[in-house]
Amino acid sequence: MMRPAPAIVWIGTVLLLVPAAGCDDMTRQNKQNPYASRETAPADIPSGVVQYGQPGDTSRPIPPVTIALLERGHTEYHVFCAPCHAETGNGRGMIVQRGFPAPPPLATADLMSAPPQRLYDVVTGGWGVMYGFAQRIAPDDRWAVVAYVRALQRSQHMMLADLTPEQRAAP
Ligand code: HEC
Repeated sequence: MMRPAPAIVWIGTVLLLVPAAGCDDMTRQNKQNPYASRETAPADIPSGVVQYGQPGDTSRPIPPVTIALLERGHTEYHVFCAPCHAETGNGRGMIVQRGFPAPPPLATADLMSAPPQRLYDVVTGGWGVMYGFAQRIAPDDRWAVVAYVRALQRSQHMMLADLTPEQRAAP
């Protein structure tokens, strides 16, 4: 005849089952079901989220160039582009000095005559060995970077004729 199990075995068994029963709550807790209704599906992109843009995306109009936009572009360029392209855009940034392939200077005739959308697309999707910045730089800030690159290019090809007589006379 079998002896009844000692009390310690019963208590042990109950203690083991209690956490297992607790797990069942996970099937009933609030969560996002994969095929839930439109109201709860994550179809709407929350505001403030950086969208992943595609090269050729013209959905973001070019914002008017203001000093605030250029300053924003300077900040973003300093953080995201200068490590390779250098603060002056000559392509000798610190990452390049440490062995990354050197980009062309930004103030070449080719890049100076390139339409702004091309520069925007390069920032969005990358170019050759340069990776894209769609997930790091918001669309409006990409335009700010493009405006700042234009200012950099211009700054290296200023002609005397570009200056007003007052500017020429200034020390
Ligand atoms: C990790 C280094 C690196 C970073 C960071 C980087 N670039 Fe580049 N970039 C390159 C290299 C290298 C090339 C040349 C790619 C090639 O020809 O394969 C290039 C090419 C370019 C070109 C020329 C594209 C063309 O049409 O010829 C532009 C414009 C440019 N980069 C702008 C930027 C801007 C603006 C940023 C910042 C948002 C940036 N890059 C960040 C390395 C970088």
